[in-house]
Amino acid sequence: MYSDLNKKVAVVTGGSKGLGTAIAKRLSKEGASVVINYHSDQAGAENAKKDIEAMGGKAVAVQADVGTEEGVGKLLKAAVDNFGGLDIWVNDAGVENKVNTHEMPLADWQKVINVNLTGVFLGSKAALAYFVENNHKGCIINISSVHERIPWPTFAHYAASKGGVGMFTKTIAMEYADKGIRVNNIGPGAINTPINAKKFADPEQLKRTTDMVPMKTIGEPEDVAAVAAWLASDESKYVTGITLYVDGGMTLYPSFEGGNG
Ligand code: BGC
Repeated sequence: MYSDLNKKVAVVTGGSKGLGTAIAKRLSKEGASVVINYHSDQAGAENAKKDIEAMGGKAVAVQADVGTEEGVGKLLKAAVDNFGGLDIWVNDAGVENKVNTHEMPLADWQKVINVNLTGVFLGSKAALAYFVENNHKGCIINISSVHERIPWPTFAHYAASKGGVGMFTKTIAMEYADKGIRVNNIGPGAINTPINAKKFADPEQLKRTTDMVPMKTIGEPEDVAAVAAWLASDESKYVTGITLYVDGGMTLYPSFEGGNG
């Protein structure tokens, strides 16, 4: 569908499950070679790689902690060594846990900030350094959240990390725009992924969530992957510094539905 993605090279952090796997598969369908990063779920990453190869695509699975310079360096090296370069860097790796803020262990805060925000910084830094050094008009896509904009009590670390990703993205989009490097966020809402599996398996919780979505349904990983493919392609070549929400309208103040208020 996006022929310019053919033979491009992508790194997808957090590629062993959920949105990361869907994005890796979709970019591969468009003809890109993919470095699938995982932290601990090797089986998930190997499965994604197998699926991609079964479709005729190319992928490697690489273990790395995106919260370290060494980790992101390993991913960049894998792209260059295996596929000859880098065109697209997707910062998807993310974690969350529910905890009251007055009881939140510092370790929880640091873990969420380290993966969700520092990981985006380090991944972007590695990609930007490669693009600048090679005078290459590459692109970066960050998987943010509706919680870049919507406060989320008992997930203060997560919301803070995503708010941070919002401003980080706008800032670096501006900083590198004149080099033709584009940086954009995708802000998923409630999507059918492993991070939400337990919550959505409970019919009451599922209803509570879908009631907060004007389209009255949760999204599929492929809905997010489709937007990632578009943002990676030349079809979006004049788009930078935005957050594109993929949320069935969750960011539209659904409590005002029907003229409430
Ligand atoms: C979180 C999900 C949550 C959704 C809507 C996402 O960023 O990862 O767990 O269901 O936001 O609140």
